[in-house]
Amino acid sequence: MSGKRVLLIVTGGIAAYKALELVRRLKERGIAVRCVLTRAARELVSPLALAALSGERVHEELFSLTEEAEMGHIRLSREADLVVVAPATADILAKMANGLADDLASAILLATDKPVLVAPAMNPRMWCHPATRRNLARLVEDGVEFVGPAEGDMACGETGPGRLVEPEVLVERILARLAPEPRPLAGLRALVTSGPTYEAIDPVRFIANRSSGRQGHAIAAALARAGAQVTLVSGPVAIPDPPGVRTVHVESARDMLRACEDALPVDIAVCAAAVADWRPESPADAKLKKEEGAPPPLLRLVENPDILARLARHPTARPRLVVGFAAETGDLEAAARAKRAKKGCDWILANDVSPGSRVFGGARNRILFLAGDEPAESWPEMPKEEVARRLVARIAAALGREAP
Ligand code: CTP
Repeated sequence: MSGKRVLLIVTGGIAAYKALELVRRLKERGIAVRCVLTRAARELVSPLALAALSGERVHEELFSLTEEAEMGHIRLSREADLVVVAPATADILAKMANGLADDLASAILLATDKPVLVAPAMNPRMWCHPATRRNLARLVEDGVEFVGPAEGDMACGETGPGRLVEPEVLVERILARLAPEPRPLAGLRALVTSGPTYEAIDPVRFIANRSSGRQGHAIAAALARAGAQVTLVSGPVAIPDPPGVRTVHVESARDMLRACEDALPVDIAVCAAAVADWRPESPADAKLKKEEGAPPPLLRLVENPDILARLARHPTARPRLVVGFAAETGDLEAAARAKRAKKGCDWILANDVSPGSRVFGGARNRILFLAGDEPAESWPEMPKEEVARRLVARIAAALGREAP
């Protein structure tokens, strides 16, 4: 990694102090880091500490005569291999999405032609606000890459999505960006399902589950980075579409099946969606109303199609490799083996979703990996992005596509 340069833009979130740790870890790997601080970030992290750790002067002002003479904002971005914004506030996302350039950080982000990696950190309500969602969608479309935010307790006392990802996750992504991953799956087509499904009760009510789509989305992104041409069929989720992937948005299991069949033929199918097993037999056309004295309506459920089984047993277009997940609460291995046999898929990634495991919706996963009848492999707990990378490496190896 020596000789690689990162331009780190630190904006004004409480997590700004984590920039120090990030700089330290990047420097350890021989990466040169030059830091830019916004005015708000300056209140939260010391420019002096950043300068000491990075070994370079910290840049703050757009209209500084000396800075413009010595190191203009164009040069700052030109001399970097990668621009990283961490932590990124809702404010800088709004500026980036709208092309504002009223300070050094935003001017660099508008002027740069280098890849940009953004690690947001903000209050969960700000993250979920429609304005932030709009900005995010636009930035993803512009090719900006996101890492996080993670979920958990926030400095403001709230809980939810909005924490800056841990420095090790960020470093991983930066390293991956700097040393482009080999593309062992180039020329192959992949299909991934992700997220929950919504099964309508009436026009406003539905049955759903707690799946966040994070694992499936991470797998789609990792397959795309490995060179595959990826279609992601996603149920309703609150996370952005992964870059470099064709994403088809669906609601119900039946829509999901249709979109998957439309994507065939593919070489690889990974079913990570938490598809509802049942749907209301006959959803009402109009909103169900409470009638005075009448008993609550009874919901009669019918079984949904099993997408994984359909793909694994497809009569004419079975993918070369079909991978499923198994969310279990009892004897993980026995249940996962039975599920693999029942569904006819090649591999199963089983995870424990007992209360307290925090897999559904969480950032990390602990996998028991089953390939055919081979002995089960227990993967240590790791971020979902890392699970995705590991799975993709296995897929490449199984298809004889190991990187040279
Ligand atoms: N799956 C699917 N279509 C369904 C149900 C499940 O494609 N209608 C896929 C999931 O994407 C996952 C795997 O099947 O890859 C296992 O899902 P899981 O919910 O754990 O298993 P079920 O088949 O629902 O069995 P059970 O709920 O009885 O454990």
